[in-house]
Amino acid sequence: MDKLSIIRPDDWHLHLRDTPYLEAVLPHTARQFARAIIMPNLQPPVRNYDDASAYRQRILSALPDHSDFQPLMTLYLTDNTSAEEIERASQSDFIFGAKLYPAGATTNSEAGVTGLKPVYPALEAMQKHGLVLQIHGEATEHEVDIFDREKCFIDTSLKSIHEDFPNLRIVFEHITTADAVDYVASENDFIAATITAHHLLINRNAMFTGGIRPHHYCLPVAKRELHRQALLKAATSDSVKFFAGTDSAPHARDAKESACGCAGIYSAYSAIELYAEAFELTDDFSHFEAFMSVNGPHFYQLPINDDNIQLEKTSWKIPESLDYPNDELIPFKAGEILKWKLINND
Ligand code: NCD
Ligand code: ZN
Repeated sequence: MDKLSIIRPDDWHLHLRDTPYLEAVLPHTARQFARAIIMPNLQPPVRNYDDASAYRQRILSALPDHSDFQPLMTLYLTDNTSAEEIERASQSDFIFGAKLYPAGATTNSEAGVTGLKPVYPALEAMQKHGLVLQIHGEATEHEVDIFDREKCFIDTSLKSIHEDFPNLRIVFEHITTADAVDYVASENDFIAATITAHHLLINRNAMFTGGIRPHHYCLPVAKRELHRQALLKAATSDSVKFFAGTDSAPHARDAKESACGCAGIYSAYSAIELYAEAFELTDDFSHFEAFMSVNGPHFYQLPINDDNIQLEKTSWKIPESLDYPNDELIPFKAGEILKWKLINND
């Protein structure tokens, strides 16, 4: 098989940042995907309807001419997000969910929630009004080993949220462990998970191959090989609960290659091709279209896209670096050869 044609995919977890960085990264995503769930962790965060509406306008203004890419907006939950704010957001036709960041868990999460109880009124309103809850699922207690934070979060927080709000649709974002795969697979249809291309392609060794590799550092951090294999098995399975969300998270080269480098991998440049690379490892593309283009819209209760994309098996090289204001941006797998190429979008 050397050609693939699938329904146009969407990216169910994406960081676009803001002007002028937004203008540098948005064309990469808009070239490939029809829609994306836009993460709200700007500084200051996208906290309410007005913030989301203004941010959406900035994204639409930054789109290349003739692009019909649609940003699907989310709110950033804080200890003070009110039920009224959630209700207002739910009445819009462009806000689809709200993101729960445990305070301190990741980039720009300082304004995140300090515990579950403060956010319960907002979750109650989300359940009532049908907004999807996106969760960064990592425990933040310093004594919890960084490689155990996802598993710990399932036990200490995710199970309670799911039990206390049985009709709330939850996306466990960018899962990295066999524990998360097993939990999501064993629960009912109100809980699903996104999986990034990078977590399908690298394990934690990639951060330390021959020295420290800051461009392989993201949160949640990549785990052992057995976990990568569990993710790959889930993504390529017939389960409808797993779908693509790149978590592409641009940081300037200087901010990555630093004594305290930022967390985030920039995969948007070649996102679909990277997912194809991961499926290629299993030699089984039978559920590629479902994972990329069907399971996500199904969970979000949105229509699937009405056009197709084509990929061709041909080797090509990811650039060493990309343009970024006042610096450069190093894409995931910079300078490496990929086996699949998107052919109808150049
Ligand atoms: C993201 C970012 O940079 O905004 N970083 C990351 O490592 N994934 C935040 C996040 O999704 O955790
Ligand atoms: Zn993210």
